[in-house]
Amino acid sequence: MTAIIEAINLRKTYMMGKVPVEALCGVSFSVEAGDFISILGPSGSGKSTMLNLIGALDKPTSGTMLIDGVNVGKLNDARLSELRLKIGFVFQSFNLIPRLSAKANVELPMSVADMNKARCSKRAIKLLEIVGLKERMNHKPTELSGGQQQRVAIARALANNPRFLLLDEPTGNVDSKTAHEIMSLVHRLNKENGVSIIMVTHDQELARTARRTIKMFDGEIQSDMVN
Ligand SMILES: Nc1ncnc2c1ncn2[C@@H]1O[C@H](COP(=O)(O)OP(=O)(O)O)[C@@H](O)[C@H]1O
Ligand SMILES: [Mg+2]
Repeated sequence: MTAIIEAINLRKTYMMGKVPVEALCGVSFSVEAGDFISILGPSGSGKSTMLNLIGALDKPTSGTMLIDGVNVGKLNDARLSELRLKIGFVFQSFNLIPRLSAKANVELPMSVADMNKARCSKRAIKLLEIVGLKERMNHKPTELSGGQQQRVAIARALANNPRFLLLDEPTGNVDSKTAHEIMSLVHRLNKENGVSIIMVTHDQELARTARRTIKMFDGEIQSDMVN
């Protein structure tokens, strides 16, 4: 198996004026391709900081973050943007573009990656079919339910065939029945399509559905266990 993520002694210190805040105090772990991992912890434990490092949205203060063997801390902004195209982000608040149809939302990251129009269109339809929304592809986000919007967001995150999906509280804004549907989809993508999953949550029950859970507390890994 190959590690898609390798974190070695990651530290992240924010400055609050002149006062340093240690958000991560030496965190190490690795993630194999095809795995399903949840990152669980209370508010302030460092989950978002960790997510930003895993998603190459930020660099560690010290330590090494390797994504697909590439040292994120050594990349310039252009290379960081390139790397981010290989990561699928799914947020609590969907973040779809309101004036674009579901299909156009899914096409967008592919056109950013310079895929030609016909291929973008074909792949967007295929992805919307995978998430069960092919019939709704011409609907705008406001014409879709919260759960449907999140499924469009997941299809969009898969557009460029990412190395892994990074989900930040993906069911935080929907009711429990819809949450269940979204999680079934995420599990199906992992099992049937081999998509590697890293999901940040403060919900213990949700975290337990992952194969492995990394528990954070006060900027440290409290436990790292197979469920
Ligand atoms: N931009 C920032 N500036 C200063 N402190 C921050 C910043 N982001 C996070 N922190 C602090 O770092 C710690 C971890 O925060 P965070 O990673 O957001 O935790 P979580 O996502 O688990 O709630 C907290 O003490 C938080 O106040
Ligand atoms: Mg957070």
